[in-house]
Amino acid sequence: MNPTPEEYLERELPRFREELFDFLRIPSVSARREFSADVRRAATWIQDQLTAADLDSRILETDGHPVVWGEWRHPDPAAPTLLIYGHYDVQPPEPLEEWTSPPFEPEIRQGRIYARGVTDDKGQVFLHLKALETLLQTESELPLNVIVLLEGEEEVGSPNLLPLVEEHRQRLAADAVVISDSHMFAPGVPSLLFSLRGLSYFEVRFRGPAGDLHSGSYGGAVVNPANALARLLASLHDRQGRITLEGFYDDVAEWDPETREALRALPFDEDAFRKELQVDSLGGEEGFTTLERLWMRPTCDVNGFVSGYTGEGAKTVLPREARAKVSFRLVPDQDPQRVSRLFQEHVQARTPPGIHSEVEELHGGPPWRAEPRGPFFDAARQALEEGFGATPVLTGEGGSIPIVRGFEEILDVPVILLGFGLPGSNMHAPNEWFPESHVERGIQTLIHFYRKAGELAGGTSQSA
Ligand code: BES
Ligand code: ZN
Repeated sequence: MNPTPEEYLERELPRFREELFDFLRIPSVSARREFSADVRRAATWIQDQLTAADLDSRILETDGHPVVWGEWRHPDPAAPTLLIYGHYDVQPPEPLEEWTSPPFEPEIRQGRIYARGVTDDKGQVFLHLKALETLLQTESELPLNVIVLLEGEEEVGSPNLLPLVEEHRQRLAADAVVISDSHMFAPGVPSLLFSLRGLSYFEVRFRGPAGDLHSGSYGGAVVNPANALARLLASLHDRQGRITLEGFYDDVAEWDPETREALRALPFDEDAFRKELQVDSLGGEEGFTTLERLWMRPTCDVNGFVSGYTGEGAKTVLPREARAKVSFRLVPDQDPQRVSRLFQEHVQARTPPGIHSEVEELHGGPPWRAEPRGPFFDAARQALEEGFGATPVLTGEGGSIPIVRGFEEILDVPVILLGFGLPGSNMHAPNEWFPESHVERGIQTLIHFYRKAGELAGGTSQSA
């Protein structure tokens, strides 16, 4: 007799862990060209996994890194369709010296798996692959139609995905999208997300004299690009922590009092949050709580700033150039293109004579806010209750997943953000980790989710 899915999972878990480690060993860094072959290797690795699990699978080429497609069709034409989206690319691992174990040599320490991408997002993609495998190998079928769409460019802003979704909108027709690329609210407290922030990201360059100059011979008479850029960056916020771009807040939607009340009711420990980060105090826009600042309010941050001499000791130099990376996190109903225009105008207006400025837009994505209801949300809530023994809380999220709004708009489907990472997982930072126990729990939860989605959404047609 076939094992039950639960038995199969228990039996195969050691192999799953080996396979997860194999997957994590592939340095699928999308941002850097020298890793292109590895990014493709990760795509092929997934394709092989999908095929072995009994899904149809192929690689779709794009102008950038490939997309992996998987598909399993239910014999019942009335079965609902779930689109599983995720990304197999990862952020660059630097600074390497900050890692306790190397980023692409996964290691378990104190119940945590450490590796680049283990939470964001390869580890979470893997949970879906194994939940599908477990069901197909034990029951020979899935409770619903499944389409798997995994991209290799999320961490660089998904530049090629929107056209691909548009091109394949018929084949991608689904009743819901599920994404596991986020965190639970706290250990033991699973969450379902109702929002993501959008993003508008820029590089600003200030150029002054043709070459570096002696700061004694020229300083004071020649405009210093570093001084000027520092002033520009400082001009982006006022004393209340509000962003100063003319008209920036025009499209920021007010949140309903119930949602704000619900945020205040969440068991958020501000002191623990602060201590974990080892900062003396938190700061942000006046008049808002920390969670509101993170989930409800737009922000502007300098992500990088270089100019002049930054080596050991002193060098009296007036640099010829200064560069900064500046990004805005956006909330409904802000539009990345409009923010881009406002930012360029702001920079132009504040570029002093003697400086030549340039703004390059690096990437962007719209914000997202969902109505957390419907059969797929119910299925996710029940699945989390069973998998983690606790009712999920509804939360927002400060990070971005650029394609989410595209799915909603092009495919006209709800998007369910069902994440298994934990806060403090070091996404994008050294020592990224994922709780070892969430591998099994995550797979179990997803099995529950597929089953419940099949039941609760069963019989609904695609337009319902
Ligand atoms: N997994 C994250 C999104 C996320 C971040 C979810 C934090 C939950 C908590 C995703 O892979 C990501 O990092 N997105 C980028 C998008 C950007 C590169 C266009 C981000 O938010 O910076
Ligand atoms: Zn990420």
